[in-house]
Amino acid sequence: MRLVHRKQSFFEVQRGCSQLELIEGEKELILESIDEIFKTNDRTRENLIPILQQAQEKIGYLPTLAMERISELLGVPAVDVYSLATFYNQFRLTPPGKFQIKVCMGTACYMVGGQIALDSFERRLEIHEGETTPDREYSLEHVACVGCCTMAPVVVINEKVEGKVTPTKVDGILLALEEESKKNADDNKADEEDKKIKNPEDS
Ligand code: FES
Repeated sequence: MRLVHRKQSFFEVQRGCSQLELIEGEKELILESIDEIFKTNDRTRENLIPILQQAQEKIGYLPTLAMERISELLGVPAVDVYSLATFYNQFRLTPPGKFQIKVCMGTACYMVGGQIALDSFERRLEIHEGETTPDREYSLEHVACVGCCTMAPVVVINEKVEGKVTPTKVDGILLALEEESKKNADDNKADEEDKKIKNPEDS
């Protein structure tokens, strides 16, 4: 039997719940969001699902810290919070990436290479399905038929549909996303510089 140090979070030792490091300011945002939710919800066990839903809506996913806080404030064991969050696939335990890659695994896509497309993304991004890259640029998951079967195998990135996805096309898609990300970062930097010039007292 594996013994767990008492101080170690229940959530941290659960398989599939190894979460990414929180980014700057995220801890405060999570705690504030949970406190806010508890102002308008009764602290009863029956409210666990609505509270988890509201937490995910506010934060974008269910980080360990949020589940720990909910468990504490509701007086519900961590194992129950974790079980519910993993039982329903409406809940996600990893943060969505800036680029959310969804590989279709409906029958038509699966039959013509959906799994190959998924494997290609996993290899290139060095994450597994259901995970997010440490820099939070990309998250990867599979979805059911997205209704574009004639373009199988299909991948949806944010709202954009890509059809006939081969491993070579995966390389092209990731290269284009990398360039888009770099361009956005350059644009943001230029905007910041511009603001500093216009409002020097703010900097
Ligand atoms: S099965 Fe993939 S779009 Fe229909």
